[in-house]
Amino acid sequence: MNLDVDRDRLVREIEELALISDAPAPAVTRIVFTPTDLKARAWLIARCEQAGLVVRQDPVGNIFARWTGSDAIAPAVGTGSHIDAIPNAGRFDGVVGVLGGLEAIRSLGRSGFRPKHSIELLVFTSEEPTRFGIGCLGSRLLSGSLSPSAARVLADKDGASLEEVRKKAGFKGELDKVELPRGYYKAFVEMHIEQGPLLERQKVPLGIVTRIAAPASLRISVEGAGGHAGGVLMPDRRDALCAAAELILAIENVAKTCGTIDTVATVGICEVFPGAVNSIPSRVHLTVDIRDTSLERRDAVLRDIQAAREAIAAKRQVSIEENLLNADAPTECAPEIIEALSDSCKKCKQPFILMVSRAYHDSLFISRIAPVAMLFIPCWNGYSHRPDEFAAPEDIARGVTILAETLAGLAG
Ligand code: GLV
Ligand code: MN
Ligand code: MN
Repeated sequence: MNLDVDRDRLVREIEELALISDAPAPAVTRIVFTPTDLKARAWLIARCEQAGLVVRQDPVGNIFARWTGSDAIAPAVGTGSHIDAIPNAGRFDGVVGVLGGLEAIRSLGRSGFRPKHSIELLVFTSEEPTRFGIGCLGSRLLSGSLSPSAARVLADKDGASLEEVRKKAGFKGELDKVELPRGYYKAFVEMHIEQGPLLERQKVPLGIVTRIAAPASLRISVEGAGGHAGGVLMPDRRDALCAAAELILAIENVAKTCGTIDTVATVGICEVFPGAVNSIPSRVHLTVDIRDTSLERRDAVLRDIQAAREAIAAKRQVSIEENLLNADAPTECAPEIIEALSDSCKKCKQPFILMVSRAYHDSLFISRIAPVAMLFIPCWNGYSHRPDEFAAPEDIARGVTILAETLAGLAG
């Protein structure tokens, strides 16, 4: 097979998609179901249709673009990722797996290859948790990991429910129809930037993911007592922000002292009420994101955070409520898909390492219904979720070649 990846067109497409953004370039902000997200979806669907793929969207907006195989009813081979982007993000997170997946399909078509199993590009809705508080919304529903009734009550910060928002965006079917039948995919391969520095540091161009770390997220609400910044003396205070600050440091300490670098914890949001210079904070909302490759250790961190929360609440006479948004299990990638990716790297004489994904991905959930593995390419300095996120064109093109080879092997 003579694969000829059109690197220049792919780079132009990545740049074009990056301009459909609610933040000025080079930053990208594309939150699910905003007019910008809908514009990006329409742009992408047009490209899939130009490539001759048959496109459908499900009731939560997952996009399926299919190259029908000679055995049209056989399970499909899937690839893809997401195009939503957190506030002030970069151009490559998710996009490399979507536009790279499209280019893998186009280059296979140009080479004269014809699949037996259909090859399907899947663009997941809301991999990022920005709007509805939990990540991987589309893949959770596809895999039956989130029930339609639990999904219906998710709401954004303005109180708009997922039901309301998706229907307004034009996705009107019932959420009960989203879950895929078992056996729908024969295999699923997601290409992604590494979002960490290991490939670059080790000067290896490709990583094959063997395990995906498990995320858990908490929303924490601290209620103290507000008052006048001059009038209330220090012994009489129940300052919610001081209690929250103590809790944030306790969370950092729990993650730092649990004896492994595989545990990470982040407080990414801290909202302070009423937020006035001369008013004692009465209420604070925090979000906590905890990841680990071991479910037991991650759950032990959750228990330690709960103990710290109770101790700080008692000591400072404030109330601290915790709401667990999700606590997912890590996954092992499928040995046969890891092998298919390794074989493609060997065939193309490309060095690779086996590695863990410390970020989560839709593949975490798809692994519950299909054999899955991921292909990582390097990103500059390991930077991601920031505007200067960068993946070199040659690294992207190399990843697309390996992805195309692998899809061909699986779908042949
Ligand atoms: C995905 O964006 C993650 O936060 O791991
Ligand atoms: Mn991301
Ligand atoms: Mn991503």
